[in-house]
Amino acid sequence: MEFLYLVLFYVEAFFVLVLLYVLLLILVTTYKHLTCRYLKKPKDLRECYGEWAVVTGGSYGIGKSYANELAQRKMNIILVSRSEEKLRQVAHEISLTHGVKTKYVVADLSQGQAAVDKIDKELTNLDVGILVNNAATAGGFPCQFKKVQRQSIYDMSSVNMSAVADLMYQVLPGMRARGRGLIVNVSSVASLGPLVNASVYSACKAYVTNLSETIRIECASEGIDVQTLTPGFVQTALLHCDTKRNSLPTFLNPTPEAFAKSAVDTIGHMKLTSGTLWHDLQTLDRAVCIRIDPTSDAMEVLLWVAFLSVFLVVLAVVAYFGYAVVYIFYKYFICVYFKKPIDLKQRFGSWAVITGSSQGIGKHYAIELAKRNINLVLVSRSEEKLKAVSQDIGEKYGVKTKYVVADLGSGRDATEKISSSIQGLDIGILVNNAATPGGLPNYFYNLQRNDIWNLLTLNICSLTDLVQLVLPGMRERRRGLIVNVSSVAALAPNPIASIYAASKGY
Ligand SMILES: NC(=O)c1ccc[n+]([C@@H]2O[C@H](COP(=O)([O-])OP(=O)(O)OC[C@H]3O[C@@H](n4cnc5c(N)ncnc54)[C@H](OP(=O)(O)O)[C@@H]3O)[C@@H](O)[C@H]2O)c1
Repeated sequence: MEFLYLVLFYVEAFFVLVLLYVLLLILVTTYKHLTCRYLKKPKDLRECYGEWAVVTGGSYGIGKSYANELAQRKMNIILVSRSEEKLRQVAHEISLTHGVKTKYVVADLSQGQAAVDKIDKELTNLDVGILVNNAATAGGFPCQFKKVQRQSIYDMSSVNMSAVADLMYQVLPGMRARGRGLIVNVSSVASLGPLVNASVYSACKAYVTNLSETIRIECASEGIDVQTLTPGFVQTALLHCDTKRNSLPTFLNPTPEAFAKSAVDTIGHMKLTSGTLWHDLQTLDRAVCIRIDPTSDAMEVLLWVAFLSVFLVVLAVVAYFGYAVVYIFYKYFICVYFKKPIDLKQRFGSWAVITGSSQGIGKHYAIELAKRNINLVLVSRSEEKLKAVSQDIGEKYGVKTKYVVADLGSGRDATEKISSSIQGLDIGILVNNAATPGGLPNYFYNLQRNDIWNLLTLNICSLTDLVQLVLPGMRERRRGLIVNVSSVAALAPNPIASIYAASKGY
């Protein structure tokens, strides 16, 4: 009985500490928002960063309001979007209302490098102090992955990810030369975890958050601020069809004007924020994970809660590792050695497609599947190696093998080739293993521009495309297994592998 009381005492103490910790986080978050709005002197953005601000997606929605807020703080504005008429009107309104210079660039960011080049050309000889990477497309949100239009996967990849990276890549050299600058990457609360019915959009935003946080660490010593903005719902056209949103009170679903005002107030004071106090309170748990970054706001939080945190962290670590040890023991020893192995063929189907299987992990994954009597479709660029691996496995394990020579870095041509080679096969398993590190290890600003695009095509577009290719068959047969080989690099910002880590975060 005494032992039971003791256990109950510790359990109660633990929950009280967790509660205290959460209360402190709420206090610190509220304090930060209130001080940057009411107590601290507003930053002179022009003096701190430079004369001009580029805002992508500035024709309406958050971008338009954000541009207005920056103009009110005397920044000259360059707006970017696809609609010339709207851009002309917004640019005119801004210069008339705030008395600043405005320019606009008509560019469709789904068109890749050509669109970014067009913007870059307009920035020549301008003191670009602020870049707001705001434009994005939600690809028909809300929508189940199986119903996503195939083309919108590529559009979202280009607008929401590649253009964001490429624009930073273009403006950073100038900012580094001037020793000042600010990049605001508009991500989303959707980046913080998987979001059902917005699979590709939320994965794109995970890429933006991951990349933005990494570039911030890289640029921290060069006088360049990078802010990651992760808004919750805002009343714009982007998510207009989400009916849940309309029932929310306005503090959780603000107008773009109210959102932009609040978000611009946080510039220079908060590095990773949802932009408003209420959205930040909705995502408090994030304060725990950003602590691994020494330049983040979380360092301040750490000072506030030092004693309590240390105690809590020790307690949590002990509990977590205790749980992890038991879990790993169960998974790896009991399931692997004592449970009857699953009959993969019967459970999933008779064929497996394995990309990047001419060598390394892919090849050995293929051998393990062959040992389990699964027929193989091997994919890579090197015909000679594939032929040898395919023959070797076929002879040794008595399974049927096929191989497809395809460069997945070339995009849809390669996946079309795989598509025609697997016609009529009972594809039960897809192992998305092929990937390129894209010039790793290297700092972002030292990367070749082409590496960014090739890496995205191989590590993200082809992977997604292949999933879409095999899913209909698997759904029809009501069985199947997709193994996407990600990386430990995806778990935290990685300064010398920024693009690779972000692509694995997707
Ligand atoms: N609204 C929300 O609830 C919410 C929540 C979280 C995060 N966000 C993020 O906030 C940012 C702005 O969202 P929003 O709600 O303001 O969206 P929005 O109202 O749909 O506006 C999107 C803007 O992006 C531009 N754009 C779209 N596709 C483009 C392309 N291919 N090339 C160039 N410009 C393009 C649009 O202009 P044109 O059509 O004229 O090209 C428009 O100016 C996005 O990054 C979004 O992911 C929004």
